[in-house]
Amino acid sequence: MQHDVIVIGSGIAGLSFALELARAGYSVAILTKKSKADSNTNHAQGGIASVTSQSDDFELHVSDTLRAGDGLCREEVVRSIVRDGPLAVNDLAGIGVPFSQLDDGRVSLHREGGHSKRRILHVADVTGRAIEEALLHAISNEPRITLLEHHFAIDLITCRRLARKGLLPASGEDRVLGLYALDVFSNEVITYGAKVVMLATGGVGQVYQFSTNPDIATGDGIAMAWRAGVPIRNMEFIQFHPTALYTTDGERFLVSEAVRGEGAILRNIDGEAFMPRYDSRADLAPRDIVARAIDSEMKRLGSPHVWLDITGRGESQLREKFPSIFEACDKRGINMNRDYIPVVPAAHYLCGGVVTKLDASTRLPGLYACGEVACTGLHGANRLASNSLLEAVVLARHGAAAAISFLKNHARDSEVELPQWVTGRAQDPDERVVLMHNWDELRRTMWDYVGIVRSTKRLERAQARIEQLLREIHDYYWQVKVEPRLLELRNMVRVASLIITCALQRQESRGLHFTLDFPDKNDEIRDTTVRRGGF
Ligand code: FAD
Ligand code: SIN
Repeated sequence: MQHDVIVIGSGIAGLSFALELARAGYSVAILTKKSKADSNTNHAQGGIASVTSQSDDFELHVSDTLRAGDGLCREEVVRSIVRDGPLAVNDLAGIGVPFSQLDDGRVSLHREGGHSKRRILHVADVTGRAIEEALLHAISNEPRITLLEHHFAIDLITCRRLARKGLLPASGEDRVLGLYALDVFSNEVITYGAKVVMLATGGVGQVYQFSTNPDIATGDGIAMAWRAGVPIRNMEFIQFHPTALYTTDGERFLVSEAVRGEGAILRNIDGEAFMPRYDSRADLAPRDIVARAIDSEMKRLGSPHVWLDITGRGESQLREKFPSIFEACDKRGINMNRDYIPVVPAAHYLCGGVVTKLDASTRLPGLYACGEVACTGLHGANRLASNSLLEAVVLARHGAAAAISFLKNHARDSEVELPQWVTGRAQDPDERVVLMHNWDELRRTMWDYVGIVRSTKRLERAQARIEQLLREIHDYYWQVKVEPRLLELRNMVRVASLIITCALQRQESRGLHFTLDFPDKNDEIRDTTVRRGGF
């Protein structure tokens, strides 16, 4: 199967990029491992940050982003993404995203933690769903795009990989040639060739026992890039969202930060509004600070959650502003207008990822990455709320321009014949219980030892267990025929190992990485970068 471009993932990043390439006349295949709308994007609530109001300005958005990033953002990247935000937002409005408006016709803007202004455009509290729907509709009108649902990308095919098999000379330049993907329904592994591959596979939330992320967030793109020798950066910066709805069944529905933006107050189990004790910005401090404060109050008072109080605002107003959150609470017998909401932090967003330039290119020629899988330097040590949809859509535009020029420059390259996937003597899996056991153990280990507050001892304990799981899963992988759950576990254990490696390297506390053994900042440490086989 040969296409000009293959996009892995059908969230905001992949769909936006695919649209641009198709409009430029290229044939694009989008592979997505489940149904087309299964993505983190589809769950985004608060909205997309961009400077659109008269009372705001780019400098304020830049300085809020730099401040949240705690000294590790790349300023030129921040400036570029903030500056291009309004254009990208316009594009979204242009394909039909119905951003909420005030009664006077101006766009409605949410406020979230770390933002000095109201600047979050939103569609009630279902912004992601509205964006996903509009993008899917736009690509359905593009005859050059083929969308393949239930196609699971397994591994990239690169010149180096073929050279290792003796199929290409070892001396040539490395570049991406395509990938292997499992057609989940036919159980067939298909070989796809393309000069450009865009990794838009999203985040890693499922690596943790408690997460706001849907099932798809298993870090596949990061593990694939790592196996192809592409550098990965700052994996220790896992953002824990402070307010996920606490339930005893382990599900963690997000209660948007926009609820605090509308005045909700965090209270500990005794009813005290504790945030002013931790930060002068109180409930609207950046997420790392709020999540650590909640963690500390829960530990101090031995409570399984804290409360979020937005009572007395009027039921109809709350229903109108936060329809999906109101419904999720209501389903569990909580009336937001009358009752405090029980909330806890949960793994939410990865600030690190595949090292990517401002044009979405990676170290491997032809391979681009964009959205949550990528690490551009926008977020530094902690992402400012609602900057991720912004980054995804701006980088998709930048990446499209770069990929188009790459395709023009390589128009005459001869095609390499790609080898088929070899199943060899692999058997049908007969011990799925091993998969389930390792799956649970991995996620519990990460939650218990690599969470909001870390220590060297906890990280080393996690590392020992994860290394053992890596070996077990690696052996199992080579014995059985591939299936989605196994592929995900293989990727998750690799991602867990990368998170721990980066966390151990960062011997300081900064942004989202807080360790009891190194409570201060060490300005000599910049990025933690890992690459298969070293540099
Ligand atoms: P995703 O939207 O996650 O898409 C990834 C795609 O890749 C999916 O289609 C998936 O199926 C596919 N995929 C993955 N692996 C494979 C594979 N091996 N083979 C084939 N396909 C694969 N950010 C904001 O800026 N504002 C918000 O208000 C906001 N709210 C959020 C609320 C929630 C509950 C969550 C979970 C996140 C929120 N975020 C928010 C973060 C934001 O939604 C994500 O960072 C962003 O949507 C990521 O987009 P993406 O395109 O990179 O990845
Ligand atoms: C939220 O609505 O609180 C999530 C926003 C984000 O993750 O940026």
